[in-house]
Amino acid sequence: MRKITIAIDGYSACGKSTTAKEVAAILGYRYIDSGAMYRAVTLYFLDNHISLTNPKEIDRALSQIHLSFHLNSHSASDAFMNGVNVENKIRKMRISENVSQVSTIKEVRHAMVSQQRKLGKDKGIVMDGRDIGSVVFPNAELKLFLTADIQVRAYRRQQELLEKDKLVDLDTILSNITDRDRIDSTRKESPLIKAKDAIGLDTTHVTIDEQVDEVVRMAISKILLKK
Ligand code: CDP
Repeated sequence: MRKITIAIDGYSACGKSTTAKEVAAILGYRYIDSGAMYRAVTLYFLDNHISLTNPKEIDRALSQIHLSFHLNSHSASDAFMNGVNVENKIRKMRISENVSQVSTIKEVRHAMVSQQRKLGKDKGIVMDGRDIGSVVFPNAELKLFLTADIQVRAYRRQQELLEKDKLVDLDTILSNITDRDRIDSTRKESPLIKAKDAIGLDTTHVTIDEQVDEVVRMAISKILLKK
């Protein structure tokens, strides 16, 4: 059966990653969380005090960062940086508070997009992020753009963090996702936009299971579609 590329973009905490992960598992596709890559770069930049305004320093730092994904014992994909599992560290608020700024940097975007294209060269991939349908895989067979009410998004993110034993108050989360949405949508390099051929999905009143069923149904009809 022919393999396709599925791009899932949208605002923070709309359920992109959860949907992408489950859709990939059902189709037997690879799942890549592009946001985890920007989060890992942010971790490296903060830990190594990289100046965000010095292109040479940024290029040098990027050349030192090797990112990969490996399945953990729960069949979920963990992000590794230079051979070390950084999955837990990159989900902390310290990273959420800095990642959108780091993601505006041209050199960072070029390096990540090139790695993402390599990961997706054989298709059979579900990738979620902000510019996957618009920049990384403009020819993806299925493109989705997720939105949801901001209060619902903040609540869902709080629950997600709680499951990882991280208690963060709702106002902190709300202010963080509002800031990130603004920076992501207004940056110069590949801003968060809905690609012309992306299908919009408002997930405010939809459960994850319904969302996953809908995307799998769309993916199967694309897979069966004769070129
Ligand atoms: O899961 P959540 O929606 O909180 O965000 P994420 O997917 O982990 O992405 C974190 C941040 O990385 C975003 O707010 C963007 O600033 C950046 N990002 C990006 O610029 N381009 C992507 N393809 C993915 C993430």
